[in-house]
Amino acid sequence: MAKVHNWQIGREMNYPYTQAFPRRQFAFVFNINRCIACQSCTMACKSTWTFSKGQEHMWWANVETKPYGGYPQFWDAKILNLLENANPGNQQWSGKPSTDKKKPYGQFDGKTIFEAQNMLTPDSARVLGYLPTDEEWNLPNIYEDNPVGKKGVRNELDKEGTELPVHKTWFFYLARICNHCSYPACLAACPRKAIYKRPEDGIVLIDQNRCRGYQECMKACPYKKPMYRATTGVSEKCIACYPRVEENTVTRCIAACVGKIRLQGWVSPPEKARRDNPIDFLVHFEKVALPLYPQFGTEPNVYYIPPRWVPRAYLKQMFGPGVERAIARYKKPSRALLGVLMLAGSCREIISRYEVTAQEAIGYDADGKEVTRVPLEEEVIVRPEKHLNTT
Ligand code: SF4
Ligand code: SF4
Ligand code: SF4
Ligand code: F3S
Repeated sequence: MAKVHNWQIGREMNYPYTQAFPRRQFAFVFNINRCIACQSCTMACKSTWTFSKGQEHMWWANVETKPYGGYPQFWDAKILNLLENANPGNQQWSGKPSTDKKKPYGQFDGKTIFEAQNMLTPDSARVLGYLPTDEEWNLPNIYEDNPVGKKGVRNELDKEGTELPVHKTWFFYLARICNHCSYPACLAACPRKAIYKRPEDGIVLIDQNRCRGYQECMKACPYKKPMYRATTGVSEKCIACYPRVEENTVTRCIAACVGKIRLQGWVSPPEKARRDNPIDFLVHFEKVALPLYPQFGTEPNVYYIPPRWVPRAYLKQMFGPGVERAIARYKKPSRALLGVLMLAGSCREIISRYEVTAQEAIGYDADGKEVTRVPLEEEVIVRPEKHLNTT
């Protein structure tokens, strides 16, 4: 095992391969506060990449209702339980969220999926995980819109449950794709070395010719994003729409997003972050966008603006200790934050750099060409009296 630095958990950790950064890293920010679970993203991916025989059960993009929903069912509760059993009572964070680039959320003192497996079965499998059953893949949208009700009972509403800051009755929609992790568990686990991370953009792919269907990647990925295809005998996963990315065009699931919750771009390591890069700005400067289950240790590259109405303990388990700071800043956004949020879903091109003026947010592609211009405030036009069509 090599030692690598994982900034999301604020420390070095074990990983089977040595650290190697891609030239730039594919990344998304999802603003959960805006997702309406229309599933347009899900269907855009399905109708582009997984409509063939043997792919019926595959949803590379999915949107699940939390806390009960999950695809595959209970994926996150299951891996959290495995980690807790491997290291009982010690899956804890220490320190505080700060401006320290090496540990912006504090430090995770528990065991990641790469470290816990050593404790359970030394020198055997490289990653702690499990293989979902066939049934667990069957119902991608199970428990849609089912809230946590009174005293934690599913679907029993709390009559006083509507006041902010935190609702007593709550649910939220979690949009998910492969995280194209910096330390991919799928890649670490494959005995065939059939999974690779592209040096040009950090996209993680399964080589369809090398894969022999061992499914160690499916066991290892804590987010359960590789999927086995029985008709070909090999596994597949989200390919980050790489033919589009190579043309500097946003992915299908981004282009289709009705809620405009998704912003695609490039994320830098914290020490190389640029304030005028929209993803770096949200992740490293404003710190409103947080990784999903950073404690798993894969350094995922999809970041989430947490939903402001949800009990904080649940959010902290899911997004780490940066939750309070992220929600506080999102609730009272700076002008720049407002501007960058407006860029989500505003154009077909991937935005590499932005500017926010007094009136507008402007996005530029990697060549410096302007690709979008969005007003920060919609103009209000009052219809003149002579055109009134009602009396
Ligand atoms: Fe691999 Fe899973 Fe990370 Fe995707 S989310 S790169 S499948 S470990
Ligand atoms: Fe599907 Fe492309 Fe979105 Fe991946 S990035 S989930 S392949 S639409
Ligand atoms: Fe949410 Fe956008 Fe997907 Fe609709 S298309 S479910 S708003 S992420
Ligand atoms: Fe490797 Fe997964 Fe294929 S473990 S051999 S990529 S099914």
